[in-house]
Amino acid sequence: MQYAGILRWNHSLLAVCMVLQLLVGELMDVPGEGAEHEAAAGWIISAWAHSMPAGTVVEESWMFEVHEFLGLTVVALLLLRLILALTDLPGANWRHLVPWCFADGRRALKSEISSQMAGWKQGKLAPPEEGETVARSVHGLMLLTAMAIGTAGVVLFFGWNEHGHQSELIEFVGETHELLVGVFEALLAAHVLAVILHQRQGHDIVSRIKP
Ligand code: HEM
Repeated sequence: MQYAGILRWNHSLLAVCMVLQLLVGELMDVPGEGAEHEAAAGWIISAWAHSMPAGTVVEESWMFEVHEFLGLTVVALLLLRLILALTDLPGANWRHLVPWCFADGRRALKSEISSQMAGWKQGKLAPPEEGETVARSVHGLMLLTAMAIGTAGVVLFFGWNEHGHQSELIEFVGETHELLVGVFEALLAAHVLAVILHQRQGHDIVSRIKP
C-alpha cells in the first residue's frame, strides 16, 4: 500500500511541527504565576525552565509565542487529517486507525500479536504484507492523543492568564495537556523505533509515506 499524496505531505508537516513543538514545550518559560502552576503540577515532571520562585510573574517570551503558533499549525494539520479520514484515499480512512472498534479488527490484532510477539522480543518486525493492524493502532492512538493535546492547547490559548493566577479549571486543563504530552512521547518513541527496525530489515516503509 502507498499513502495518498496529500497524506504524505500532511504527515511530513505534522512530524516536523510536532517534534519542534515538543522541544519548544520543554525549553520555554510559561507566562503567568509560574510557581503556582509548578506546585499544582508537582507530580508531573515539568520542564526545568518552569521552576520559578514563589509569586514571580513570568513575562511572555518569544518561545511561548512560537509554541502558540506551532500549536495552532498542528491543530490545523490534525483537522485536515480528520477530514481526510472521512475519505477513501489510499491509507486515509478512519477505519484503518481504530481497528479495535471492529470485530474483524480485534481478531486481526489478536492474531498479529500472537504470531509476531516472538519476533518483537528479538527486535524483529514482520514486513507490512504480514499484517499492519498493530502499526495502524499506534498511528490511530498517536493521532487521537495529538488531538486531545491540541484541544487542551486551544482551551489554554483562550483561557491562560499570562499576567497572573490561573483558575482551577485552567490549571486542570494545563496538567492534562502536560500528562498527554508524556503519553504522546512514549507513542512517538515506539513509532520511530518501529520505523528504524523496519528500515534496517529492508522493508523500506519510509518510501510509502515520503512526499
Ligand atoms: C520523527 C518523526 C517521524 C518519523 C520518522 C515517522 C515515520 C513514519 C513512517 C515511515 C510512516 C509510514 C508507516 C507505514 O508504512 O505504514 C509513518 C506513518 C504515520 N505516522 Fe509517522 N513519523 C514521524 C512522526 C510522526 C508524528 C509526530 C506523528 C503524529 C501524529 C506521526 C503519525 C503517523 C501516522 C498517523 C502515520 C500513518 C499515516 C497516516 O495515517 O496519516 N508520525 N510515519
